[in-house]
Amino acid sequence: KKATIITAPFSGGQPKGGVELGPEYIMNAGFEKQIANLGWDVKVENPLDDTSFEDKKTDDKDQYGVKNAAIVSECCQKIYNAVNNSVASGRLPITIGGDHSIGTATVAGTMAARPDTCVLWIDAHADINTPQTTESGNLHGCPMSFVMGLDKDSYPPEFSWVPQCLKPNKIAYIGLRDVDDGEKRILRENNIPAFSMYHIDKYGIGKVVEMALDKINPDRSAPIHLSYDVDAIDPSFVPATGTRVEGGLTLREGLFVAEAVAETGLLSSMDIVETNPLLGQTDAHILDTVSAACAIGRCALGQTLL
Ligand code: ARG
Ligand code: MN
Ligand code: MN
Ligand code: MN
Repeated sequence: KKATIITAPFSGGQPKGGVELGPEYIMNAGFEKQIANLGWDVKVENPLDDTSFEDKKTDDKDQYGVKNAAIVSECCQKIYNAVNNSVASGRLPITIGGDHSIGTATVAGTMAARPDTCVLWIDAHADINTPQTTESGNLHGCPMSFVMGLDKDSYPPEFSWVPQCLKPNKIAYIGLRDVDDGEKRILRENNIPAFSMYHIDKYGIGKVVEMALDKINPDRSAPIHLSYDVDAIDPSFVPATGTRVEGGLTLREGLFVAEAVAETGLLSSMDIVETNPLLGQTDAHILDTVSAACAIGRCALGQTLL
């Protein structure tokens, strides 16, 4: 059991400052030790090292309708290499964000090593806008379109290196509740399995995880990439994040998803993103959010209640 914690202190996929501090807070909370205590050999890598992205951030859209394509792409290339090398050398990468724009890199990086990987995307948002459909121009709302090659003539040239590797029947969503109109059309037209909060209320979280895996991994034989946006969990439990949406997963439902993935024995890589310590109104908000992020990682890596 070997893991690599890949820190990705990056905020260029969205306008708010502070999400680049997520990795520091999560590491200071003792995340490395927590994973090591579960029996993993842990290595920590910071592929972005001293690259300074923050001062290059703008709030202007380029001619393609998105913001900060150059820095998002540069960051993604570095994360892509780190994730790819980790998986290829038999270590499970846990990429700690940072905003969700790095999902392009983690999904593509893991799939370059294991092409049959399927993706579970746990999020209030679908993050599948294309440069054509995005209203905000924020690239953390677009990572899935790039790896799927949706509206591919609309991409800024900075993303031409991204392998369009993910098929629509290899990704499932859990926790959705704020999906843009253009994204709804994309999900429908491509028949992408998506379980919203409605489905969780209707069937229960246990059944929803089973249904999601039945769609993308029916034989339970393919490796799983778990991309976990902490905003999937209700803001009452996880307040310190940039795009809060009411009516989310309870903390237990959120951790259950990670526990259920661990139970398959198929987890091959994961992301924990969108922790923004500067958006907590109180120290308790920050602590709750950072603790939840750590707990998601522990549960996915095998921590059980009994
Ligand atoms: N759909 C919105 C957008 O494209 C919100 C995306 C939020 N994404 C996230 N990773 N929190 O701007
Ligand atoms: Mn989200
Ligand atoms: Mn919107
Ligand atoms: Mn997200």
